[in-house]
Amino acid sequence: MRRKILLTFMALAALIPAQSPQAQSRQSVWDGVYTEEQASRGQTLFQQSCARCHGANLAGTFETPPLIGRFIPYWAGTTLDVLFDYISTAMPLDRPGSLGRGANADIVAFILKANNFPAGAQELSADSDRQKMISFDAVKPQPATAGRRNTKKR
Ligand code: HEC
Repeated sequence: MRRKILLTFMALAALIPAQSPQAQSRQSVWDGVYTEEQASRGQTLFQQSCARCHGANLAGTFETPPLIGRFIPYWAGTTLDVLFDYISTAMPLDRPGSLGRGANADIVAFILKANNFPAGAQELSADSDRQKMISFDAVKPQPATAGRRNTKKR
């Protein structure tokens, strides 16, 4: 009996990616999309290349926007590749694009941590296509709502 249920489940699980590969691998910044270790590498890079303008605590200054607080509603509703691409092409302001993709992914991990998004078991990829699957949600999506929202979108 147990085995039959398991087989049914496996058969169903195999069907899902065939029907909607995107919904299957879609994630939120609340799902633990970076590791603690990555964020701590990112913190070092941030202190070297970004803190001078954005502040060691990410709070910004009169001329420089914060990367915490109102930063969240500003980026909410996008996917993580948008933030990554902006940082990769526009920052550091005085030497735009000077950091590598890996370094920028580490920095994004640190910014996520600084904004209290949870760490997880897998590092944030420097691949835009992978980042595109991670939605920047200001509020943690409820499992049921997340499913409904995904079906509504397509
Ligand atoms: C020389 C100062 C300076 C440095 C260094 C710098 N920034 Fe910026 N950053 C700015 C300014 C000024 C803006 C606002 C630009 C604009 O509005 O066009 C900005 C904007 C941003 C934004 C958009 C914020 C928002 O919500 O509008 C992000 C994200 C960002 N910077 C990240 C970084 C990261 C990550 C680094 C390090 C790799 C970095 N910055 C280094 C000055 C700097």
